[in-house]
Amino acid sequence: MIPVTKPFLPPRHEYDSYLDGIWERNWLTNNGPLVNDLELKIKEYLGLDHMLFVSNGTIALQLAIKALNLKGEIITTPFSYVATTSSIVWEGCTPVFVDILPDKLTINPALIEAAITPETSAILATHVYGIPCEVERIQQIADKHGLKVIYDGAHAFGVKVKGRSIFEYGDISTCSFHATKLFHTIEGGGVFTKDPELLKKMAYLRNFGHDGFEKFNGIGINGKNSEFHAAMGLSVLPSMEKIRKVKAAQFLLYKEYLNGLEVTFPNTEDIEQYNHAYFPVIFRSDKELKQSMQMLENNQIGSRRYFYPGLNKLGYTSGECPVSDSLSERVLCLPLFHTLTKEEQRMISRILLRVQNN
Ligand SMILES: Cc1ncc(COP(=O)(O)O)c(C=O)c1O
Repeated sequence: MIPVTKPFLPPRHEYDSYLDGIWERNWLTNNGPLVNDLELKIKEYLGLDHMLFVSNGTIALQLAIKALNLKGEIITTPFSYVATTSSIVWEGCTPVFVDILPDKLTINPALIEAAITPETSAILATHVYGIPCEVERIQQIADKHGLKVIYDGAHAFGVKVKGRSIFEYGDISTCSFHATKLFHTIEGGGVFTKDPELLKKMAYLRNFGHDGFEKFNGIGINGKNSEFHAAMGLSVLPSMEKIRKVKAAQFLLYKEYLNGLEVTFPNTEDIEQYNHAYFPVIFRSDKELKQSMQMLENNQIGSRRYFYPGLNKLGYTSGECPVSDSLSERVLCLPLFHTLTKEEQRMISRILLRVQNN
């Protein structure tokens, strides 16, 4: 079986090398030294001043919404993982869906203003597949209307725009460090901001609101992460460049092998530093997608409909999203992970070509 993704496991001795320290200190969680070290190393790697390591990418989004004290309506994308919408709903806000760009699959800035009402407090957009949203245009709109901006950067670790980490844009950016992500800590996530006050607020929120043992600075949640998860992150980080190179090469190879297949790909061409986290293929019809998916499955090959159904179909909908509706019916992610071989990529590509030529 070829899975659609496979978590990267670092050399065993690298992870093991952190365990003795954990046993010696007997410090397993609650902002331990490995958590601090990981935060430092991530900031160094991405060239950022502020970040917090949290339990997962969903809690990261909820902390961001809470820290910005958002109320009412949040303008968001229908084309993302369910956590983007669920976090809005769990924080008591209403998602208002704005359609996406047909080439990049990120929120269409030209449609945002029409969706703004007196109830709108923020824009929460996803850098889907690591493809950056139109961050400058979105910021202009937000500034004009006094809105906050959160980016769900769950897929965007290591992406750069104009020489800066993608996580520097917006009021707060979040990331997922789930096992299937490019950089991972098994379960985990991050919140990023340029604003030290917001960071401080999120640090309280991450730890129940504790300000010492007997005092509270607001009411928070348990958004902490453990020393074991931090150890995994510290062991994965040194391999990031290697993983990125392998994925970039696999990405190009798919495009070569799939030459002649009547599909399109999201536009990643003008991204300054992309991370090749996923390999989405856009079929001409959902019928072709389903035939291809079935044939891959018959050959023991996994694929996933990232992202179907559109989040505007969850029952919280307002607004029409025809572009997203059409694309989410036709997008399929092919296997892409560090140990996928050329032969496997060729076999996958041949199967897809065969389906279309029959
Ligand atoms: C776009 C997006 N946002 C948020 C999340 C949630 O991240 P986590 O699984 O770490 O909670 C994911 C997870 O896959 C995601 O793809």
